Amino acid sequence: MAHVDDVTALPSALPSVDAVTLGSAATVAHFALAHAGFSPGDSVLVRGAAGSIGIAAVQLAARAGAGAVAVTTSSTDRGRRLRDLGATHVLDRSGAGDAAADSVDVLLDVVGGADVPVFLDRLSPNGRYVLVGAAAGFPPPDFAAPLLRAFQLSRSFATFSLATVGAGERSQAREQLFLAAVRGELAPVVHAVLPLDQAAEAHRQMDEGTVFGRIVLVP
Ligand SMILES: NC(=O)c1ccc[n+]([C@@H]2O[C@H](COP(=O)([O-])OP(=O)(O)OC[C@H]3O[C@@H](n4cnc5c(N)ncnc54)[C@H](OP(=O)(O)O)[C@@H]3O)[C@@H](O)[C@H]2O)c1
Repeated sequence: MAHVDDVTALPSALPSVDAVTLGSAATVAHFALAHAGFSPGDSVLVRGAAGSIGIAAVQLAARAGAGAVAVTTSSTDRGRRLRDLGATHVLDRSGAGDAAADSVDVLLDVVGGADVPVFLDRLSPNGRYVLVGAAAGFPPPDFAAPLLRAFQLSRSFATFSLATVGAGERSQAREQLFLAAVRGELAPVVHAVLPLDQAAEAHRQMDEGTVFGRIVLVP
């Protein structure tokens, strides 16, 4: 539910399309990294990095001094674009492609689904996995088995929803993210701007899997 204190002033130098692109996604990425206890030097894997949350997470982690930023994505071209945004290791959707990313301190996942247990096994000792979305559905009921099998590695798993962040705190963070965008430290990635009456076309493109970043609908 929207609150009256969940309002962020739009810097005059930030186009409204960019604000829409970052306003929710970058705020989710910011708090998800905090929820994972991210600190500079940590290696990070963003699963589903080509969406608007993932793109923001890659940039925020890189800018905050991550030791490495690995991503999963479905094509070489998307991988190249993610490298331009700060990714250091590009993996395919299964997680193959670069053995250097086999063990990570922080794993942010917007995909979920059946492969969560496989990715849980990539956590380093004390590694933290945060499920932020479920583009491929919820994980299977026994998804936590790898945590228990590797009990002595002290790995952890959490979900994160922006709904658990207070409106005032959310708004403050969004303001800082908008200012970072104005300074050129955070790039809004807009796939397309379409008129509202083409919402069905926007959904068609999303279903096709060709969208990189966000489609913004305008009145
Ligand atoms: N936690 C929160 O507070 C919060 C807030 C808002 C939204 N969400 C959730 O976040 C998710 C949407 O985030 P988003 O818009 O950033 O992501 P998205 O665009 O829906 O998906 C991100 C990327 O994941 C990859 N992907 C999609 N389906 C996949 C599959 N079946 N297997 C492997 N990879 C797949 C695709 O990239 P490639 O083709 O390159 O692999 C896609 O571009 C939704 O689940 C939504 O409910 C969470």
